Amino acid sequence: MEIFRNVSLKNYNTFGIDALADYFVEVNSVEEIREVLKDEKLRSLDRLIIGGGSNILLTRDFPGLVIKNNLKGIGVVNQDEDSVWVKSAAGEVWHSFVLWTLDQNLNGAENLSLIPGSVGAGPMQNIGAYGVELKDLFFELEAINIETLETRVFSHSDCKFGYRESVFKHEVRNQYFITSVTFCLKKHAKLNTSYGAIAQELSKAGIENPTSKDISDAVIRIRQSKLPDPKVLGNAGSFFKNPEIPVAQYAELKLKYPDLVAYPIGSESMKLAAGWMIEQCGWKGKRVGETGSHKDQALVLVNYGHAKGAEVYELALQIRESVIEKFGVRIDPEVNLI
Ligand code: EPU
Repeated sequence: MEIFRNVSLKNYNTFGIDALADYFVEVNSVEEIREVLKDEKLRSLDRLIIGGGSNILLTRDFPGLVIKNNLKGIGVVNQDEDSVWVKSAAGEVWHSFVLWTLDQNLNGAENLSLIPGSVGAGPMQNIGAYGVELKDLFFELEAINIETLETRVFSHSDCKFGYRESVFKHEVRNQYFITSVTFCLKKHAKLNTSYGAIAQELSKAGIENPTSKDISDAVIRIRQSKLPDPKVLGNAGSFFKNPEIPVAQYAELKLKYPDLVAYPIGSESMKLAAGWMIEQCGWKGKRVGETGSHKDQALVLVNYGHAKGAEVYELALQIRESVIEKFGVRIDPEVNLI
Protein backbone atom coordinates (compact mmCIF):
# COMPACT_ATOMS: atom_id res chain seq x y z
CA MET A 1 0.00 0.00 0.00
CA GLU A 2 1.51 3.27 -1.10
CA ILE A 3 0.69 6.84 -0.12
CA PHE A 4 0.93 9.15 -3.13
CA ARG A 5 1.38 12.96 -3.14
CA ASN A 6 -0.38 15.57 -5.33
CA VAL A 7 -2.67 13.15 -7.12
CA SER A 8 -5.24 14.31 -9.67
CA LEU A 9 -8.73 13.15 -8.64
CA LYS A 10 -10.11 13.49 -12.19
CA ASN A 11 -10.53 9.73 -12.60
CA TYR A 12 -11.92 9.29 -9.09
CA ASN A 13 -15.03 11.46 -9.35
CA THR A 14 -17.78 10.98 -11.94
CA PHE A 15 -17.99 14.76 -12.49
CA GLY A 16 -14.45 14.44 -13.86
CA ILE A 17 -13.27 17.47 -11.91
CA ASP A 18 -9.50 17.83 -12.04
CA ALA A 19 -8.80 18.69 -8.39
CA LEU A 20 -5.65 17.60 -6.55
CA ALA A 21 -5.37 15.53 -3.39
CA ASP A 22 -2.42 16.43 -1.23
CA TYR A 23 -2.15 12.77 -0.16
CA PHE A 24 -3.91 9.78 -1.75
CA VAL A 25 -4.15 6.10 -0.88
CA GLU A 26 -6.23 3.16 -2.13
CA VAL A 27 -7.12 0.56 0.51
CA ASN A 28 -7.85 -3.03 -0.53
CA SER A 29 -8.56 -4.69 2.80
CA VAL A 30 -9.78 -3.99 6.33
CA GLU A 31 -6.17 -4.46 7.53
CA GLU A 32 -4.98 -1.76 5.12
CA ILE A 33 -7.58 0.78 6.20
CA ARG A 34 -6.74 0.11 9.84
CA GLU A 35 -3.08 0.68 9.06
CA VAL A 36 -3.86 4.01 7.37
CA LEU A 37 -6.12 5.19 10.18
CA LYS A 38 -3.54 4.24 12.83
CA ASP A 39 -0.63 5.97 11.10
CA GLU A 40 0.62 8.74 13.42
CA LYS A 41 1.80 11.02 10.57
CA LEU A 42 -1.47 10.72 8.62
CA ARG A 43 -3.71 11.17 11.66
CA SER A 44 -3.29 14.94 11.69
CA LEU A 45 -4.56 15.31 8.11
CA ASP A 46 -8.11 16.06 7.05
CA ARG A 47 -9.58 12.96 5.45
CA LEU A 48 -11.95 12.43 2.55
CA ILE A 49 -13.19 8.89 1.92
CA ILE A 50 -14.38 8.13 -1.59
CA GLY A 51 -16.03 5.12 -3.18
CA GLY A 52 -17.11 5.56 -6.80
CA GLY A 53 -16.91 9.36 -6.40
CA SER A 54 -20.36 9.60 -7.94
CA ASN A 55 -21.99 11.95 -5.48
CA ILE A 56 -19.36 14.59 -4.81
CA LEU A 57 -18.47 17.94 -6.31
CA LEU A 58 -14.83 18.86 -5.65
CA THR A 59 -14.98 22.64 -5.40
CA ARG A 60 -11.25 22.91 -4.56
CA ASP A 61 -8.05 20.90 -4.22
CA PHE A 62 -8.23 18.69 -1.15
CA PRO A 63 -5.58 19.73 1.38
CA GLY A 64 -5.46 16.37 3.18
CA LEU A 65 -5.63 12.61 2.67
CA VAL A 66 -8.07 11.08 0.18
CA ILE A 67 -8.78 7.42 0.90
CA LYS A 68 -10.27 5.38 -1.94
CA ASN A 69 -12.27 2.44 -0.64
CA ASN A 70 -11.40 -0.58 -2.79
CA LEU A 71 -12.66 -3.36 -0.52
CA LYS A 72 -14.05 -6.19 -2.68
CA GLY A 73 -16.10 -9.39 -2.24
CA ILE A 74 -19.78 -10.42 -2.31
CA GLY A 75 -21.32 -13.49 -0.67
CA VAL A 76 -24.41 -15.01 0.90
CA VAL A 77 -24.29 -14.92 4.70
CA ASN A 78 -27.68 -16.36 5.63
CA GLN A 79 -30.99 -17.51 4.20
CA ASP A 80 -34.44 -18.79 5.09
CA GLU A 81 -37.45 -19.85 3.03
CA ASP A 82 -38.14 -16.35 1.65
CA SER A 83 -35.00 -14.31 2.06
CA VAL A 84 -31.30 -14.35 1.33
CA TRP A 85 -28.89 -12.06 3.18
CA VAL A 86 -26.04 -10.92 0.97
CA LYS A 87 -22.98 -9.14 2.34
CA SER A 88 -21.00 -6.95 -0.02
CA ALA A 89 -17.71 -5.23 0.63
CA ALA A 90 -18.13 -1.47 0.45
CA GLY A 91 -15.76 -0.94 -2.49
CA GLU A 92 -17.78 -3.08 -4.92
CA VAL A 93 -19.31 -1.17 -7.83
CA TRP A 94 -23.02 -0.78 -7.07
CA HIS A 95 -24.24 -1.95 -10.48
CA SER A 96 -21.96 -5.04 -10.36
CA PHE A 97 -23.59 -5.90 -7.04
CA VAL A 98 -27.07 -5.53 -8.60
CA LEU A 99 -26.06 -7.79 -11.52
CA TRP A 100 -24.66 -10.34 -9.04
CA THR A 101 -28.02 -10.50 -7.23
CA LEU A 102 -29.85 -10.96 -10.56
CA ASP A 103 -27.46 -13.77 -11.53
CA GLN A 104 -28.41 -15.53 -8.30
CA ASN A 105 -32.13 -15.05 -9.14
CA LEU A 106 -32.60 -12.73 -6.18
CA ASN A 107 -35.16 -9.95 -6.16
CA GLY A 108 -35.17 -6.48 -4.65
CA ALA A 109 -32.27 -4.56 -6.20
CA GLU A 110 -33.50 -4.50 -9.85
CA ASN A 111 -35.02 -0.97 -9.79
CA LEU A 112 -31.66 0.36 -8.60
CA SER A 113 -29.79 -0.89 -11.69
CA LEU A 114 -27.10 1.27 -13.24
CA ILE A 115 -26.88 3.82 -10.41
CA PRO A 116 -23.26 4.98 -10.50
CA GLY A 117 -21.14 4.62 -7.38
CA SER A 118 -20.04 2.03 -4.87
CA VAL A 119 -21.93 -0.21 -2.46
CA GLY A 120 -20.49 1.64 0.56
CA ALA A 121 -21.68 5.02 -0.68
CA GLY A 122 -25.24 3.73 -1.23
CA PRO A 123 -26.41 3.95 2.39
CA MET A 124 -24.84 7.38 2.92
CA GLN A 125 -27.44 9.01 0.76
CA ASN A 126 -29.98 6.19 0.63
CA ILE A 127 -29.76 5.94 -3.16
CA GLY A 128 -33.08 5.54 -4.90
CA ALA A 129 -34.74 5.28 -8.28
CA TYR A 130 -38.00 4.21 -9.90
CA GLY A 131 -40.01 3.73 -6.70
CA VAL A 132 -37.35 1.88 -4.65
CA GLU A 133 -34.75 3.12 -2.19
CA LEU A 134 -31.73 1.31 -0.77
CA LYS A 135 -33.44 1.29 2.64
CA ASP A 136 -36.02 -1.16 1.20
CA LEU A 137 -33.36 -3.89 0.93
CA PHE A 138 -30.84 -2.75 3.52
CA PHE A 139 -30.21 -5.01 6.52
CA GLU A 140 -27.10 -3.67 8.30
CA LEU A 141 -23.61 -2.33 7.69
CA GLU A 142 -20.22 -2.52 9.34
CA ALA A 143 -17.99 0.49 9.72
CA ILE A 144 -14.77 1.44 11.47
CA ASN A 145 -14.71 4.48 13.71
CA ILE A 146 -11.97 6.67 12.25
CA GLU A 147 -10.79 7.94 15.65
CA THR A 148 -11.12 4.89 17.93
CA LEU A 149 -10.75 2.20 15.20
CA GLU A 150 -13.62 0.28 16.81
CA THR A 151 -15.90 -1.67 14.50
CA ARG A 152 -19.56 -0.73 14.75
CA VAL A 153 -22.58 -2.44 13.24
CA PHE A 154 -25.28 0.01 12.12
CA SER A 155 -28.76 -1.51 12.07
CA HIS A 156 -31.49 -0.21 9.77
CA SER A 157 -32.82 2.16 12.42
CA ASP A 158 -29.31 3.37 13.38
CA CYS A 159 -28.90 4.66 9.82
CA LYS A 160 -31.93 7.02 10.10
CA PHE A 161 -32.67 6.76 6.39
CA GLY A 162 -34.66 9.53 4.72
CA TYR A 163 -35.05 10.82 1.18
CA ARG A 164 -31.37 10.91 0.01
CA GLU A 165 -30.45 11.14 3.70
CA SER A 166 -28.87 9.11 6.48
CA VAL A 167 -27.04 9.51 9.76
CA PHE A 168 -23.78 9.47 7.73
CA LYS A 169 -24.60 12.88 6.24
CA HIS A 170 -25.39 14.33 9.66
CA GLU A 171 -24.70 13.09 13.24
CA VAL A 172 -21.77 10.83 12.31
CA ARG A 173 -20.60 12.69 9.20
CA ASN A 174 -16.92 11.90 8.44
CA GLN A 175 -16.64 9.70 11.54
CA TYR A 176 -16.86 6.21 10.00
CA PHE A 177 -15.29 4.22 7.21
CA ILE A 178 -17.93 1.80 5.91
CA THR A 179 -16.38 -1.62 5.22
CA SER A 180 -19.38 -3.77 4.22
CA VAL A 181 -23.13 -3.64 3.72
CA THR A 182 -25.56 -6.53 4.17
CA PHE A 183 -28.80 -6.60 2.18
CA CYS A 184 -31.90 -8.74 2.54
CA LEU A 185 -33.06 -9.94 -0.88
CA LYS A 186 -36.08 -12.04 -1.75
CA LYS A 187 -36.26 -15.47 -3.36
CA HIS A 188 -39.71 -14.78 -4.78
CA ALA A 189 -40.32 -11.70 -6.87
CA LYS A 190 -42.37 -8.85 -5.43
CA LEU A 191 -41.74 -6.44 -8.22
CA ASN A 192 -42.28 -2.71 -8.10
CA THR A 193 -43.51 -1.47 -11.47
CA SER A 194 -45.44 1.47 -10.01
CA TYR A 195 -43.19 4.05 -11.66
CA GLY A 196 -44.85 5.15 -14.90
CA ALA A 197 -41.72 4.98 -17.03
CA ILE A 198 -41.12 1.32 -16.10
CA ALA A 199 -44.68 0.27 -16.98
CA GLN A 200 -44.35 2.10 -20.33
CA GLU A 201 -40.99 0.51 -21.08
CA LEU A 202 -42.31 -2.99 -20.30
CA SER A 203 -45.38 -2.54 -22.43
CA LYS A 204 -43.22 -1.22 -25.30
CA ALA A 205 -41.23 -4.46 -25.06
CA GLY A 206 -44.49 -6.49 -24.92
CA ILE A 207 -43.69 -7.96 -21.48
CA GLU A 208 -46.74 -8.78 -19.36
CA ASN A 209 -45.24 -10.83 -16.54
CA PRO A 210 -41.85 -9.29 -15.94
CA THR A 211 -38.99 -10.93 -14.06
CA SER A 212 -36.52 -8.87 -12.03
CA LYS A 213 -34.13 -9.13 -14.96
CA ASP A 214 -36.82 -7.58 -17.24
CA ILE A 215 -37.25 -4.71 -14.78
CA SER A 216 -33.49 -4.23 -14.56
CA ASP A 217 -33.25 -4.14 -18.38
CA ALA A 218 -36.12 -1.61 -18.52
CA VAL A 219 -34.48 0.59 -15.90
CA ILE A 220 -31.16 0.42 -17.76
CA ARG A 221 -32.89 1.51 -20.99
CA ILE A 222 -34.71 4.39 -19.24
CA ARG A 223 -31.55 5.62 -17.52
CA GLN A 224 -29.52 5.39 -20.72
CA SER A 225 -32.13 7.38 -22.62
CA LYS A 226 -32.25 10.26 -20.09
CA LEU A 227 -29.15 10.33 -17.95
CA PRO A 228 -25.71 11.08 -19.36
CA ASP A 229 -23.07 8.36 -18.97
CA PRO A 230 -20.40 9.81 -16.66
CA LYS A 231 -17.74 8.09 -18.75
CA VAL A 232 -18.81 10.25 -21.69
CA LEU A 233 -20.01 13.44 -19.98
CA GLY A 234 -19.00 14.15 -16.37
CA ASN A 235 -21.93 14.38 -13.94
CA ALA A 236 -23.12 13.22 -10.53
CA GLY A 237 -26.73 12.33 -11.35
CA SER A 238 -29.37 14.63 -9.93
CA PHE A 239 -27.59 17.67 -8.56
CA PHE A 240 -30.51 18.81 -6.39
CA LYS A 241 -33.08 16.94 -4.31
CA ASN A 242 -36.74 17.28 -5.19
CA PRO A 243 -38.06 19.74 -2.58
CA GLU A 244 -40.99 18.97 -0.30
CA ILE A 245 -43.54 21.70 0.42
CA PRO A 246 -46.80 21.90 2.42
CA VAL A 247 -49.99 21.00 0.52
CA ALA A 248 -51.37 24.56 0.88
CA GLN A 249 -48.30 26.09 -0.78
CA TYR A 250 -48.56 23.46 -3.52
CA ALA A 251 -52.21 24.36 -4.16
CA GLU A 252 -51.28 28.03 -4.67
CA LEU A 253 -48.43 27.16 -7.01
CA LYS A 254 -50.61 24.74 -8.99
CA LEU A 255 -53.11 27.55 -9.66
CA LYS A 256 -50.34 29.66 -11.09
CA TYR A 257 -48.57 26.77 -12.87
CA PRO A 258 -51.17 24.13 -13.84
CA ASP A 259 -48.47 21.87 -15.36
CA LEU A 260 -46.46 21.72 -12.14
CA VAL A 261 -45.21 18.14 -11.58
CA ALA A 262 -45.56 16.87 -7.99
CA TYR A 263 -46.16 13.71 -5.94
CA PRO A 264 -47.91 13.45 -2.56
CA ILE A 265 -45.76 12.62 0.49
CA GLY A 266 -48.24 11.49 3.13
CA SER A 267 -51.28 13.78 3.40
CA GLU A 268 -49.56 17.05 4.30
CA SER A 269 -46.69 17.51 1.86
CA MET A 270 -45.96 17.36 -1.82
CA LYS A 271 -42.65 16.61 -3.49
CA LEU A 272 -42.02 18.86 -6.50
CA ALA A 273 -40.05 17.75 -9.56
CA ALA A 274 -37.03 20.06 -9.36
CA GLY A 275 -36.08 19.09 -12.94
CA TRP A 276 -39.39 20.49 -14.21
CA MET A 277 -38.93 23.78 -12.33
CA ILE A 278 -35.34 24.16 -13.55
CA GLU A 279 -36.53 23.55 -17.11
CA GLN A 280 -39.25 26.20 -16.69
CA CYS A 281 -36.55 28.66 -15.62
CA GLY A 282 -34.89 28.13 -19.02
CA TRP A 283 -31.82 26.17 -17.90
CA LYS A 284 -32.40 22.83 -19.61
CA GLY A 285 -29.66 22.18 -22.17
CA LYS A 286 -28.06 25.55 -21.44
CA ARG A 287 -24.25 25.58 -21.45
CA VAL A 288 -22.33 28.08 -19.35
CA GLY A 289 -18.60 27.84 -20.09
CA GLU A 290 -17.49 24.29 -19.37
CA THR A 291 -20.61 23.38 -17.41
CA GLY A 292 -24.37 23.35 -17.91
CA SER A 293 -27.72 21.69 -17.27
CA HIS A 294 -28.20 18.48 -19.28
CA LYS A 295 -30.32 18.59 -22.44
CA ASP A 296 -32.49 15.59 -21.47
CA GLN A 297 -32.69 16.06 -17.66
CA ALA A 298 -32.39 19.58 -16.31
CA LEU A 299 -31.70 18.31 -12.78
CA VAL A 300 -28.36 16.89 -13.91
CA LEU A 301 -25.45 19.31 -14.14
CA VAL A 302 -22.60 18.30 -16.43
CA ASN A 303 -18.92 18.94 -17.04
CA TYR A 304 -18.15 19.43 -20.73
CA GLY A 305 -14.52 18.51 -20.10
CA HIS A 306 -12.56 21.10 -18.20
CA ALA A 307 -15.01 22.55 -15.68
CA LYS A 308 -13.68 23.56 -12.30
CA GLY A 309 -15.79 22.47 -9.35
CA ALA A 310 -16.25 26.10 -8.33
CA GLU A 311 -17.72 26.83 -11.77
CA VAL A 312 -20.30 24.05 -11.43
CA TYR A 313 -21.12 25.28 -7.94
CA GLU A 314 -21.57 28.84 -9.24
CA LEU A 315 -24.03 27.55 -11.87
CA ALA A 316 -25.88 25.60 -9.17
CA LEU A 317 -26.26 28.78 -7.11
CA GLN A 318 -27.64 30.67 -10.11
CA ILE A 319 -30.12 27.89 -10.84
CA ARG A 320 -31.19 27.81 -7.22
CA GLU A 321 -31.71 31.61 -7.23
CA SER A 322 -33.87 31.52 -10.34
CA VAL A 323 -36.06 28.70 -8.96
CA ILE A 324 -36.57 30.69 -5.74
CA GLU A 325 -37.43 33.79 -7.75
CA LYS A 326 -39.95 32.05 -10.04
CA PHE A 327 -41.51 29.50 -7.70
CA GLY A 328 -40.63 30.71 -4.19
CA VAL A 329 -39.20 27.24 -3.45
CA ARG A 330 -35.65 26.46 -2.33
CA ILE A 331 -33.87 23.50 -3.88
CA ASP A 332 -30.95 21.95 -1.99
CA PRO A 333 -28.04 19.98 -3.45
CA GLU A 334 -28.15 16.22 -3.23
CA VAL A 335 -24.47 16.07 -4.16
CA ASN A 336 -21.90 16.44 -1.34
CA LEU A 337 -19.93 19.64 -1.78
CA ILE A 338 -16.28 19.20 -0.87
N1 EPU B 1 -38.90 16.73 -15.70
C1 EPU B 1 -39.02 17.78 -16.57
N2 EPU B 1 -37.87 18.33 -17.07
C2 EPU B 1 -36.63 17.86 -16.76
C3 EPU B 1 -36.53 16.76 -15.87
C4 EPU B 1 -37.68 16.21 -15.34
O1 EPU B 1 -40.11 18.24 -16.89
O2 EPU B 1 -35.65 18.39 -17.27
C5 EPU B 1 -40.13 16.09 -15.18
C6 EPU B 1 -40.32 14.71 -15.83
O3 EPU B 1 -41.01 14.80 -17.02
C7 EPU B 1 -41.12 14.00 -14.77
C8 EPU B 1 -40.62 14.60 -13.47
O4 EPU B 1 -40.00 15.84 -13.79
O5 EPU B 1 -42.49 14.30 -14.90
C9 EPU B 1 -39.63 13.68 -12.75
O6 EPU B 1 -38.54 13.38 -13.59
P1 EPU B 1 -37.74 11.98 -13.52
O7 EPU B 1 -38.68 10.85 -13.59
O8 EPU B 1 -36.64 12.06 -14.51
O9 EPU B 1 -37.17 11.94 -12.04
P2 EPU B 1 -36.52 13.03 -11.10
O10 EPU B 1 -37.47 13.38 -10.01
O11 EPU B 1 -35.97 14.18 -11.89
C10 EPU B 1 -35.56 11.27 -9.43
C11 EPU B 1 -34.25 10.95 -8.78
C12 EPU B 1 -33.34 10.22 -9.75
C13 EPU B 1 -34.01 8.95 -10.19
C14 EPU B 1 -35.37 9.29 -10.83
C15 EPU B 1 -36.16 8.06 -11.17
C16 EPU B 1 -33.96 12.73 -7.15
C17 EPU B 1 -33.22 13.97 -6.77
N3 EPU B 1 -33.64 12.19 -8.32
O12 EPU B 1 -35.30 12.20 -10.48
O13 EPU B 1 -32.15 9.87 -9.05
O14 EPU B 1 -33.22 8.24 -11.12
O15 EPU B 1 -36.16 10.07 -9.89
O16 EPU B 1 -36.63 7.48 -9.99
O17 EPU B 1 -34.80 12.26 -6.38
C18 EPU B 1 -30.02 10.69 -8.50
O18 EPU B 1 -30.42 10.75 -7.35
O19 EPU B 1 -28.84 11.01 -8.82
C19 EPU B 1 -30.94 10.26 -9.53
C20 EPU B 1 -30.60 10.24 -10.82
